[in-house]
Order: sequence, then C-alpha cells, then structure tokens
Amino acid sequence: MSTHGNRTERGRWRAVATVATATALVAVPLTLSSTMATAAEAHVDNPYAGAKQYVNPTWAATVESAATRAGDPTLAAQMRTVAKQPTAVWMDRISAINGNADGNGLKFHLDEAVKQKTGSTPLVFNLVIYNLPGRDCFALASNGELPASDAGLARYKTEYIDPIVDLLSDSKYADIRIAATIEPDSLPNLVTNMSEATCQASAPYYREGVKYALDELKTLDNVYTYLDAAHSGWLGWDSNSGPTAKLFAEVAKSTKKGFASIDGFVTNTANSTPLAEPFLPDPTLNVGGNPVRSSKFYEWNSDFGEHAWTAQLHRLLVAEGFPSSTGMLIDTSRNGWGGPDRPTKVSTSTNLETYVNESRIDRRTHRGAWCNPLGAGIGELPVATPSSAPAAAHLDAYVWIKPPGESDGASKEIPNDQGKSFDRMCDPTYVASKLANNLTGATPDAPLAGQWFEAQFTTLVKNAYPVIPTSGATPGPTPSVTPSPSVTTPPPPVTPSPSVTTPPPPVTPSPSVTTPPPPVTPSPTANPAGACSVTYTANSWNNGFTASVKVTNRSSSALSGWNLKFTFANGQQVQQGWSATWSQSGSTVTATNAAWNGTLAAGGSVDIGFNGSHSGTNTAPTAFTLNGATCTIG
Ligand code: GLC
Repeated sequence: MSTHGNRTERGRWRAVATVATATALVAVPLTLSSTMATAAEAHVDNPYAGAKQYVNPTWAATVESAATRAGDPTLAAQMRTVAKQPTAVWMDRISAINGNADGNGLKFHLDEAVKQKTGSTPLVFNLVIYNLPGRDCFALASNGELPASDAGLARYKTEYIDPIVDLLSDSKYADIRIAATIEPDSLPNLVTNMSEATCQASAPYYREGVKYALDELKTLDNVYTYLDAAHSGWLGWDSNSGPTAKLFAEVAKSTKKGFASIDGFVTNTANSTPLAEPFLPDPTLNVGGNPVRSSKFYEWNSDFGEHAWTAQLHRLLVAEGFPSSTGMLIDTSRNGWGGPDRPTKVSTSTNLETYVNESRIDRRTHRGAWCNPLGAGIGELPVATPSSAPAAAHLDAYVWIKPPGESDGASKEIPNDQGKSFDRMCDPTYVASKLANNLTGATPDAPLAGQWFEAQFTTLVKNAYPVIPTSGATPGPTPSVTPSPSVTTPPPPVTPSPSVTTPPPPVTPSPSVTTPPPPVTPSPTANPAGACSVTYTANSWNNGFTASVKVTNRSSSALSGWNLKFTFANGQQVQQGWSATWSQSGSTVTATNAAWNGTLAAGGSVDIGFNGSHSGTNTAPTAFTLNGATCTIG
C-alpha cells in the first residue's frame, strides 16, 4: 500500500502546483512559464478529437526491420507507413511495468510520449490493462500469471494496478491523455461462458479487479477508461447484448464514481470482425426463403459488424443509465479483409449458404475463430471520429489496440514463464467444436501470444483494406481521410427469392455454447473422367505464397468424399493448408476433403488453400485430378 500512498501524495502535489502556476504566471521568468504551459488540461468528452496518438518506437522499429526484409518495394513502403501508426502499449504482466525481455517499461513509454507531444496538440497514449486474476478464463493462449484467488486479487491491486497508477500520476505526464483499455475479454466472458468452471472461479475477481482498476485510474483527470466489450460476433445476439449492458451497469454502479468512472467502451480488441459487411447490408434480407442472418455463418445474430454492435450497445447502455456521451472505440488493427479472397460483389446465388459465403468479406471459417486468423488484413488506420462511421455507432475513434504482427497464441505447446498455455484454437489442423466443427483457420507456426510473428504481419499488410498507402499517411491531429478502397459503394443486394416466408423461430445460439453434431467423414466414391474444373490463384512474395483453389464438381452426381491431386513444376512445397488434409510426395500434392466438406453436390464447389514456399519461380501447378478424373482449368 505504500506505493499507493506515494501516488496520492504526488497527485495532490500536482493539483496544488497547477493552481500555483496559474496565479504566478506574470511574476515568473520566461523559461519557467514554458514549462508551466504543460499544466494538466481538463478532462474532455472525446480525448482523441484534435489529438495525436502515441507511436510505440519499439514496435515501430520491429516493423521497420520487417520492411528491410520484405523484398517487394511496395510492400516495404506499406510496412513503413504502418510503422508510423499509433498502437497500444500492453501491460500484460507485472514485470511489463518496469520492462522485461519483451519490451520497455511504462516509464520509458510515457517519457517517449512526452517527447512526441508537440506544442499544444494533445497526445493520447493507448494503454492496455490486462492482468486480472484467472485471466482468459474461456481460453488458454493468454492465461495469465495471477491465479483466481484472494491472493491473486491482492497482488493485482498492490503489485499491478497501484504501481501503474503511481507512474501515471507523475506530474510530468499530467498533460498526456491516457486512454486505458480495461481487461480485454474479461466481463464478456462472464456474460456467455459461465458454464465453464474456470470462468465461474474468475467471475468475482474480474468484477472486483475491474472495479478497483476503475476506482484507482479515475483518481487521475487525464485518464480515460474504456471497458472492453468483445465484438459483434460474440455479444451481438439480443440474448447476449442485454445482459452485457446490465453487467456493465452493475460494475459501473459498484465503483466510487459510478457511471462517471467509465468514459467508454472498446470493441474488437485483438479480433478481426469487420466494421460492416458491404455486400450484406441487411441481415433480414430473404434469400431462398430465409433471412440472411439465419445462415450458418451468422447463426441468427443480426450484428454483422462492429458499427452495428457499438450502435446497439450504446443504445442499451444509455437505457441502463450510462450518459449518452459514452464513447466507443473499435480496434481496426486487423479487421480489413482485403487481398485476393475478398468478394467484390453480392452473390447471385439463390442458396442462402452460398449467398452468404460468396458475399461476406469476413473470410474466417467461423466468427468465433480468434487466433491468428489466416487471410485477415489491417483495417482502417487510427483516426478520431471517423467520418465513414454511422452516427449511431457513437465512435470516439478507430484505434489499433492489438499491435499488428503480435501473435494471439502459439500453434503448439511452448514453455514459458507467463502462464500462457497451448490453445488448439491456434492450431490450424484442429477442427474445433467451439467453431461448429470447422477448422480454426489459424496461421501456422505461430509463436507465443504477444511475440512478433512476421509471417502473419506480412499477410496483414498485404491483405489490408483499405490498401495501405506507400507514403504520406502520418497520423495527424485532425481526422485524416482514409484512402478510399476501389469498391466503395456496393451494388444494391439482389433479392433472389421474392416470396417472404416465415422464418423458423430463432434459436439465438451463443457462439460458445453450441454443441454441433460430430463430423461425418464420407468415403471417397468414383468420379467420371473430365467431370471437374479448378481455378487456382496464387499470391507470391519473396519465397512464399498463398494459393487458393476452387474445385467444382462438374459431374451429374454428388461426391461423398474427394481428393484433389496436382503437380508442381518448380519444386514448390506446400507448407500448410486449410479446408482439406494436405500432403506432398515429390512434386505431387494431394488434398483430401476435411471431415466437414466431403460432400460435394453436382455443380457444387469447395474452396481450399495453402501456404507454400518456392525458390524464385512459381508457375501454377498442372495435371489437376479429382478422384482420379482430369480437371479442366478455369
Ligand atoms: C496477447 C498476449 C499479450 C500481448 C498482447 C498484445 O493477448 O497475451 O501478452 O501483450 O496480446 O500483443
């Protein structure tokens, strides 16, 4: 508690000094008055408005060094634009406060922030508070160092929150706006995952820990608190969103300052849910007799993106007593979904599932897939009050909370002293029951959560949407205009079925609690010759590439089980594939159906893909066969 005492002392001193400077201004020499110009400013509604944000020099240097290895000059220039963007500083364990092998401490960053502040332009420092007892109760990859126990909570308070608040309260930092993202995933886990013993055990410590963090952080006027509010694909269902707003209100009311202890909420932290689905603007649109939201991908959730989610959440929060000035942030660091697999138009299919799958820009196997999703790109650059967002979303800013290039979790067991475990959601070969028996879609060969993951970073930059400019985008104090994507206004959606039928009663599944039937592994059947076609596209860089293969059954009968073979011409090697089981022998590659996509209807297609390596030349493979029958290309 002694650190706590110091902080209060310093905080009090700061307040007195501020008053003193105001009254003494005329009498003091010039040199002193310039120091005094940095006196604490008043708390504002939106700290990002008119402000610059802190660029983490350590992360920027890592990105810069990736740029030197990028090979392709355009990619390198885009990486250098990324290096100039502000990202949050994560206090992910006690040792992060003073600095450890993974990075500089909080004082280093705050001192750098003071240097980055120019003139009277305010500077926002994005800080992540992330060390609750029993952290990450529904997953393993970011389990923390503190146990869900009274002793863990005591350490959280005295060894984690108190020293952080102590540092922040130094008068040197009084005019830096500290925007604190509070404890990602914690309260949302208490809404949907209370069937898990680990979350039951963590629940009281999450509530008390968050309350304590808010009480202490809110002793400082320059701190802005944003509670983590998961994302639309987690909490968007009415059955989840209502309880979420109620829980947030309960926590707010438990604090010393009540609703005033929370400035806002941040969604999509470290997730890749898009802002909106440009080709699926209407969740209730009827396709083939059912609304779009009833498709397997949306599971009756009406919130297809973060704009819809922040708008819904804001409305519910205000109804629970939060002030309408409550502001929202969206982490756009990895929700761009550009690149070769991004749809460019609305599907014309009359089959609901095909329609949704061909139209959605979110290319994940399932909306619950959170670990290093392969194919995701960087999203909008950080900007205050984004003009492209609907007013109902109540946005203070788009921010980059998850620094692009840092892993979400290891794809295999890696010993460590941070409490992190191996979560199979990070294993690309794992078919997850939490994902309705889909493969995880995780990027292979990932390091421990928080570690630099250059292969992922490269894909994030390549698949960015909007495309990252090669120059110019230095974040400034005024809302900058984001580069406009090639397709901005999608054509109006086609309504294939005019008849409106009554949908089945919504089941409103929670993403975490659905228990789908076990997958059926069909046995391969014969396929008449010439009865297939293949499109093959590859996106190459240096010595790597990502290939997408669309396989269409052109025969008149369905296949129950299939295998695709092809031959590489230039010694290419498949490193890791998805949506099929991949193997390679010499130059011949075989992809056998996954458990869940073995049935291929007549005329039906399946999209599979892989990451490969090459040594300079990378021509498309030849001799495609499906179940032994020759395929046409294109
Ligand atoms: C993860 C990690 C944490 C890291 C953060 C940012 O949640 O567990 O250690 O700091 O991501 O990359």
